[in-house]
Amino acid sequence: MKVLVIGSGAREHALVTSLLADENVTEVVCAPGNAGIALAVRTCAVDSADPAAIADLSVRESADLVVIGPEVPLVAGAADAVRARGIACFGPSAEAARLEGSKAFAKQVMAEAGVPTSMAHLCTTVDEVASALDQFGPPYVVKDDGLAAGKGVVVTSDRDTALAHARTCLDRSPDAQVVIEEFLDGEEVSLFAITDGLTVVPLQPAQDFKRLADHDEGPNTGGMGAYSPLPWAPPDLVEDITARVLQPMVDAMRHRGTPFVGLLYAGLAMTSRGVRVIEFNARFGDPETQVVLANLRSPLATLLLAAATGRLADVPPLVWQSGYAVTVVIAAAGYPDAPRGGDVVSGLEQAAELVGVEVFHAGTTVLDDGTIASAGGRVLSVTAHGETLARAREHAYSAVDLITLAGSHHRRDIAERAAAGVEG
Ligand code: AMP
Ligand code: GLY
Repeated sequence: MKVLVIGSGAREHALVTSLLADENVTEVVCAPGNAGIALAVRTCAVDSADPAAIADLSVRESADLVVIGPEVPLVAGAADAVRARGIACFGPSAEAARLEGSKAFAKQVMAEAGVPTSMAHLCTTVDEVASALDQFGPPYVVKDDGLAAGKGVVVTSDRDTALAHARTCLDRSPDAQVVIEEFLDGEEVSLFAITDGLTVVPLQPAQDFKRLADHDEGPNTGGMGAYSPLPWAPPDLVEDITARVLQPMVDAMRHRGTPFVGLLYAGLAMTSRGVRVIEFNARFGDPETQVVLANLRSPLATLLLAAATGRLADVPPLVWQSGYAVTVVIAAAGYPDAPRGGDVVSGLEQAAELVGVEVFHAGTTVLDDGTIASAGGRVLSVTAHGETLARAREHAYSAVDLITLAGSHHRRDIAERAAAGVEG
């Protein structure tokens, strides 16, 4: 089977690595990819926001399976465009990807499906926002309704900051909407499910670290690290979330006539009143994918092809290796506001030689002399496996410490509390 992967981040680097390990795979091609992915497989250019260009490339490459990583092509209809050309595609239709593309739509389907989530108000004016903020009280949660590349959500106890973010979102376009939500406390869990629109196969749960700095200080980012599985999770966590959240959503989407085929990502809060959905994404999460796939032993391409072709019920139960995986994101100087590019990255070979370590590239490029340089906010996702979470952390941070990138920064506390036996 020949697989075409669309995307250019560490998530896609991890996907490519796992797909190559499936013995049913003859070739993997990635578009547009990045400097690290290009060391593993052939890459080619594509405008990943252009569904027609992705479909044309899929035909040109005679792909047997297309796996679409990021949300932007999915929301734009890339999976529909690929399927219309008769090629199997792992990724939801534009209609189904609205679960990520519109927070208001996701809330509506959750209400239909009886899925627990925070109370919320959809607002179109600053006055509506102000009254919704006052109804819920602090801490305030203000969300851009549409895709915002990880920058759409502000959680703050300062009413003026909350109002200012809402104003920025509403000023973006005349039909812009913001969602004001009740604040959810408790540990966060990311649970991914592979689905063909009917059958739901959950993966191991992960936890993402969204804030920029140690101890969850600083602004939300695209994710600064993750670990999986969760040593503190109750044994029935996955079964419970599948039954109460993932399966009802998949069923609701099918009943609406817009089945969800691909990866449904539930971002959840384990509140004192039970599990609540924070958000859905319509794709593999980044950086959680790096740790979830590090533990998966079942052949990935076979699994994704089965989902893409409606045969997921025939796939044997997933096999996981024992132990834990941790990933630490190395971010460029200036990330997240104004990441600086063009700094040389060194120590990559030494880091990758450590046992159980994989260095996935995100924002990297290769210079004329063959050296790797930064070319994005999140530059690398340094991933390690260990029999215990503490070991996985040690391996990951040993690798991080071998890598140099001027001005870069990373969190030192990824999985620290969980490894010490404290939740999250
Ligand atoms: P989202 O893009 O919806 O995942 O939000 C990004 C982050 O903001 C989440 O991972 C949470 O840490 C935080 N967040 C979002 N919604 C809420 C909420 N209702 N209560 C508390 N924190 C939230
Ligand atoms: N890890 C957060 C995301 O992928 O959206």
